[in-house]
Amino acid sequence: MDDTGLSPISDELPVPELSALPTTQDIPEAVREAVRGSTGTPTQTVSKRNPLLLGVGGLGVVALIAVPLVLALRSSTPTPEANLSDSASDTASVNSASNSASSAPAAPDAEEQALLGHLLYEEAPKAELEPITPDGSIVMRRAAAEKFNQMMDAATADGIALVPLSGFRSVSEQEAIFFDVKAERGEDPTKRAEVSAPPGYSEHHTGYAVDLGDGNHPGSDLQFDFEDTAAFKWLEENAAYYSFEMSFTKNNSMGVSYEPWHWRFVGDRQSLETFYRAKNQQERRAAEQAPSRTTPTAEEATSDQTR
Ligand code: DAL
Ligand code: ZN
Repeated sequence: MDDTGLSPISDELPVPELSALPTTQDIPEAVREAVRGSTGTPTQTVSKRNPLLLGVGGLGVVALIAVPLVLALRSSTPTPEANLSDSASDTASVNSASNSASSAPAAPDAEEQALLGHLLYEEAPKAELEPITPDGSIVMRRAAAEKFNQMMDAATADGIALVPLSGFRSVSEQEAIFFDVKAERGEDPTKRAEVSAPPGYSEHHTGYAVDLGDGNHPGSDLQFDFEDTAAFKWLEENAAYYSFEMSFTKNNSMGVSYEPWHWRFVGDRQSLETFYRAKNQQERRAAEQAPSRTTPTAEEATSDQTR
């Protein structure tokens, strides 16, 4: 056996010496059985050559044993090419096993992490939060805050009274929002989750999300009719220039209620990965579960045009 690990078959030796034949440990078990069956003797005793005991008849017996044995070995022992291709396919399967192991998500995928239609998010580090209101009561993650403040200035310049209502929220703040209001209204978790994310699952934890109102129409704060305000119309036309987008559009794939007031920043790698990696996984899984639907819905067609 050479250092390739292959057992080269002796093509150069048409009739190998019996002593060169493998022992039973080297012979595949099926062949060992065939050898035993044809001689009634274990292979190792056959492979011991003693010329003194061999006459013409002895040679004939050896030939009778050796020829079928060699033929059996040649047909059952893989050629180097076969060995190579076996070893290549073994390598491929090892590689594919290790590839699938290395590409397997370290954490549960988005669908497993989702709860009541909401995705799991990490809380932004406090050190990265910056104020977006003069009194500092509302904060966002630095990159988002910077763009948000620019957007506010632009809206003000256009005569629009854009008002931030809520930015970063900690998991414990969300706990009160989700459970206390749920109890107040006597809602079950599914109903509550249509309009509010469970703690740990709110985009507000990331520091990239913000709820917005129209200062001239405070009655529309956190209401569907915010979409009828000048502030909303201005956002629709301008928010993308500041890398903000509406998170929960009408009939969104997550089944979360339409929230025209809730916008998120997707203007750097981290924010984009935060929202889109999880969303892509969830949508891929949803598509896999419904493979027959190929025609896009009217909303998908529209969103494709607006992308
Ligand atoms: N208000 C939305 C659902 C959120 O908190 O993420
Ligand atoms: Zn919100």
